Amino acid sequence: MSWWGRLRDRFRGVSGQTFVSFRPHLAAICKTLKIEDVLEFGPGNSTIIVLADTDAKVISIEESSEWYEKYRKRFPRDRVTVHHKQTGWDLSELDDLGGPYDLIFIDGGDRPAELHHAHRLLKPDGVVYLHDAHREGYEEGICSYPHRFFPERHSCILTLDGKVMETLKSAITCDYSCACKYCSSDERREYFARITKCPVD
Ligand SMILES: C[S@@+](CC[C@H](N)C(=O)[O-])C[C@H]1O[C@@H](n2cnc3c(N)ncnc32)[C@H](O)[C@@H]1O
Repeated sequence: MSWWGRLRDRFRGVSGQTFVSFRPHLAAICKTLKIEDVLEFGPGNSTIIVLADTDAKVISIEESSEWYEKYRKRFPRDRVTVHHKQTGWDLSELDDLGGPYDLIFIDGGDRPAELHHAHRLLKPDGVVYLHDAHREGYEEGICSYPHRFFPERHSCILTLDGKVMETLKSAITCDYSCACKYCSSDERREYFARITKCPVD
């Protein structure tokens, strides 16, 4: 097993924390689809999973200079390019970095704006995976994609391609066991029921 695979497995057992809740589902996406080009907002454990479970090249965006320095050195340069962006940078700067992408993993920055911008950068059969999808203010961005799937309550898979979504739904084991306030309140349950059904405008 590769070094990235061993690192991925070391973290695999951690559960019950929303900051790692996406891990098994991201790994399943990587193993199920042909993922060659990845854009990521916020490097870290997600990068380790992509490195272990695909042969993809990753463009990763980081605003913090501390995290940028750490991850720039940590990942192999032939596979991961970490870009340091100053606060207030414009998402249109992404247009010069590469794409289109098979997978856009959103886990940092202005998520609603990134969800909208991702439409320009995604392959027709590509997938956006939004972490922290339970937060307020993301509904419009999530519903701008016709196919939506919450494998758990804190992250959401989005695509324009219905066949890709069906493939992922059969490959992914859902986990709704989390009992945090975002998952268990009546108000949040109503939100999840609405957002998974909302029509495409
Ligand atoms: C939740 S962490 C990412 C964790 C990582 N994906 C993982 O799986 O471990 C969010 C990161 O996004 C970074 N960030 C902040 N603003 C950003 C932006 N506009 N674009 C990309 N990353 C940003 C933060 O500095 C932080 O390091």
